[in-house]
Amino acid sequence: MEKTLVTYFSQTGNTKKVAEAIYENLQGDKQIKNFKEADMEDMKDCDLIFVGFPVHSHSVPVAMERFIKQIPPNKKLAFFSTHGSLTGSRISREAIEHATVLASKAKLLGSFSCRGKVSLEALELLKKSPEHRAWTDMAASASTHPDKNDLKEAGSFAHWITTLASQE
Ligand SMILES: Cc1cc2nc3c(=O)[nH]c(=O)nc-3n(C[C@H](O)[C@H](O)[C@H](O)COP(=O)(O)O)c2cc1C
Repeated sequence: MEKTLVTYFSQTGNTKKVAEAIYENLQGDKQIKNFKEADMEDMKDCDLIFVGFPVHSHSVPVAMERFIKQIPPNKKLAFFSTHGSLTGSRISREAIEHATVLASKAKLLGSFSCRGKVSLEALELLKKSPEHRAWTDMAASASTHPDKNDLKEAGSFAHWITTLASQE
């Protein structure tokens, strides 16, 4: 049975909800930690790591970039993210692509992403910068996410990844 760590960065709780849905759907030896509390020992000690973050400026938040770079080589890994832009848009994929490059020595088994509401304060502020216009225009419709269905899909993602991990 895999020993699994779920670790995440979350400022307003969206990514944390997804992390908890993943965690709840895991079997066996498992732990869930905010990435600020997860250390090298936690990472070395597990067989599989789920790493989650919100998309910031089309990318991985800087503090999370540093964390991802420390993932030990050959570690089985899965990413999850939340974002304000529409699911499937180029913007929603860019951050996962960037994270994949940062963790190129790990064994990436898959990734999951869903929308997450953007706080009104953040939205008003971000709308003012031209580089954010592309996604802030679509962000209002993320206000109900992550919803029940997103969390159900995150649970299915957890099952799928653990099946893949057990076959490695
Ligand atoms: C500073 C900042 C930058 C953001 N940049 C993007 C972005 O480039 N693209 C996007 O789709 N969403 C962006 N978002 C929206 C967040 O990714 C989204 O609200 C996410 O669900 C927040 O997750 P959290 O509650 O776990 O912090 C941004 C949010 C903030 C606060």
